[in-house]
Amino acid sequence: MIAKSCNTKVLIATNENIEYAAKLLNDGDVVGMPTETVYGLAANAFDENAVEKIFIAKGRPQDNPLIVHISKMDMLDGLVSEVPDVARLLAKKFWPGPLTMIFKKSDRVPSAVTANMNTVAVRYPSHKVALALIEKAGLPLAAPSANISGRPSPTTASHVFDDMNGKIPAILDGGACEYGLESTVIFLNDESHITLLRPGAVTVNMLKEVIPFVTIDKGVLEEIKENEQAQSPGMKHMHYSPKSKVIILNSSFEKFIDFIKKHSDENIGAMVFDGEEKELNVPFVTFGRGDDEFLQAKLLFSALRAIDRLNVSTIYARMPSKDGIGLAIYNRLIRAAGFEVITL
Ligand code: TXA
Ligand code: MG
Repeated sequence: MIAKSCNTKVLIATNENIEYAAKLLNDGDVVGMPTETVYGLAANAFDENAVEKIFIAKGRPQDNPLIVHISKMDMLDGLVSEVPDVARLLAKKFWPGPLTMIFKKSDRVPSAVTANMNTVAVRYPSHKVALALIEKAGLPLAAPSANISGRPSPTTASHVFDDMNGKIPAILDGGACEYGLESTVIFLNDESHITLLRPGAVTVNMLKEVIPFVTIDKGVLEEIKENEQAQSPGMKHMHYSPKSKVIILNSSFEKFIDFIKKHSDENIGAMVFDGEEKELNVPFVTFGRGDDEFLQAKLLFSALRAIDRLNVSTIYARMPSKDGIGLAIYNRLIRAAGFEVITL
């Protein structure tokens, strides 16, 4: 199937435009939607054809399942066959917000959404435009991040436009996303044990305040090899790659600068924390202050997109911390770098 070519409208998220977008969704179309994490590419989760359009617009591998977004707890019942107590506990603490939980799916959810898995990922976002859109449409919305597969996730409407122009009818512009990284994804093992499949703004320590045992899936920190099974298929497919090769330098700032100076005649660039660019003699992008992980999270994907404008063959990036939301930043950056880290 070929994606229908159309002019993509970027619409300020007024009530009137949300109503228009809701109508498009009810007609089986796909719409760009702001959330507090990243922008999503939304379609009616119960409409197999509409969901198929998402995969085409993104060029997404068929074996990578989608997250379904809800605007009230009642909506969960139509999507899942069972709501374990542990999910209710976590929902009470973290919903609405940047947490996605994996449930046993109900028969109503088409297999296109779940990539033939018997589970479904559900998230109750807190962004008021996302909530208003789900409410107006009266539908749970399947929505992956609104980037072309393999590109950094979009954190502004203009990122979505760059990737989706001509492929979808409309994007609701709700401004820059609050967190800038995709939601935390967890698997519910049992009443006292969960597994972190993708780190996000709901951190391991925050989860441990509610559930005693939190296992970090191997795919969070390490590369999953071609022949290995991923508990979350997306871990295998996440790339976030700019056109330049990205390499992380695990070093002090002083050693980082020495390294860059030594290689500055090699068509390289640098990805550094705010203020550090003053010491550089090569093209650069910045991604927030070194001591402000929330800002780093918010700016990471914009910075990865901006690398394409530098026209350099290799970018050397500063190493983020792995604490708190830092784990999510590290998880995304290490993928953008194809797991290439040089320790100096
Ligand atoms: O913050 C977010 O989660 C954003 C916004 C739009 O809500 N969405 C998002 O979707 O990041 P996407 O499709 O880019 O990432 C969904 C992740 C993938 O890694 C996918 O493999 C995983 O969730 N996933 C979805 N359903 C799953 C399932 N049934 N079991 C395990 N992993 C699942
Ligand atoms: Mg994605």
